[in-house]
Amino acid sequence: MNNYEYIETNVENSLGFIALNRPKVLNALNRGMVAEILDAMETFDRNDDVKVIILSGRGRCFAAGADIDEMADATAIDLERLNQFTDWDRIAWIKKPIIGAVHGFALGGAFELALCCDLLLASNDAEFGFPEVLLGVMPGAGGTVRLTKLAGKTKAMEWLFTGMRFSANEAMQYGILNRIVAKEVLMEETIRLAQQIALQPPLSIRFIKESVLKAIDSSIYEAMQFERKNFSLLFSSKDQKEGMQAFLEKRKANFTGR
Ligand code: CAA
Repeated sequence: MNNYEYIETNVENSLGFIALNRPKVLNALNRGMVAEILDAMETFDRNDDVKVIILSGRGRCFAAGADIDEMADATAIDLERLNQFTDWDRIAWIKKPIIGAVHGFALGGAFELALCCDLLLASNDAEFGFPEVLLGVMPGAGGTVRLTKLAGKTKAMEWLFTGMRFSANEAMQYGILNRIVAKEVLMEETIRLAQQIALQPPLSIRFIKESVLKAIDSSIYEAMQFERKNFSLLFSSKDQKEGMQAFLEKRKANFTGR
């Protein structure tokens, strides 16, 4: 399954793979590629055979940022008319877990894309950064927001003000990564983690994701109320009955996502 121009997709063992695929320009994200990524994510989200989505890059790196060629001559009005960054909000509506696997560069818009993932693994050669300031601009697809929420104001400002690249170790230290692994086993380790999640009851995973994302943006009280409703809601699922019955009968649960 792959009728895309700038990405490759496939489904295997309950995992939906999306690989950025413009290696000659280090997977620079043009508008066509972003549209395809969004389309692939939404398609996987609707596909019952997919439990977890994995995002990675072909060639030397994850991606070196937005396509500078494509935007160099743009005016502010062009950007407003294209409204392209609003489209990125669609990633926040994806119900299934998205795991990013970063090797080599994840810069600018590509780092923003990585920060949209729910979990993020990187190989030890990975380099992150927001070089927009060096181009006379700044991140526009959530970079100042998501990085600040994860790493805190002080480090976010240093990285954003200088445009410097930083290592996977530093990214790990500031809460951006789940794991750093050797480059040769990046996909293997990503798949291992994804499969662990894919075995769980899909409705629990869906409501956990919703609840964690809600917690980022609301007061503790509001987030706890939201969590409580989701907890109750799971008691109307077959998987809750099956999971608890299986425990009582000392057998393995057979979850169906219903
Ligand atoms: N856009 C378009 N083309 C890019 C690109 C990008 N972001 N990054 C790399 N390329 C192209 C290069 O132009 C080059 O093409 P040619 O072979 O035709 O010359 C090819 O990819 C290979 O790149 P390099 O020869 O530069 O490779 P390198 O190993 O010497 O350097 C690099 C790698 C340090 C990542 C360097 O390519 C670089 O600095 N790229 C730009 C990084 C950047 O500024 N990203 C932010 C973009 S702005 C953004 O993302 C804003 C936003 O939020 C929307």
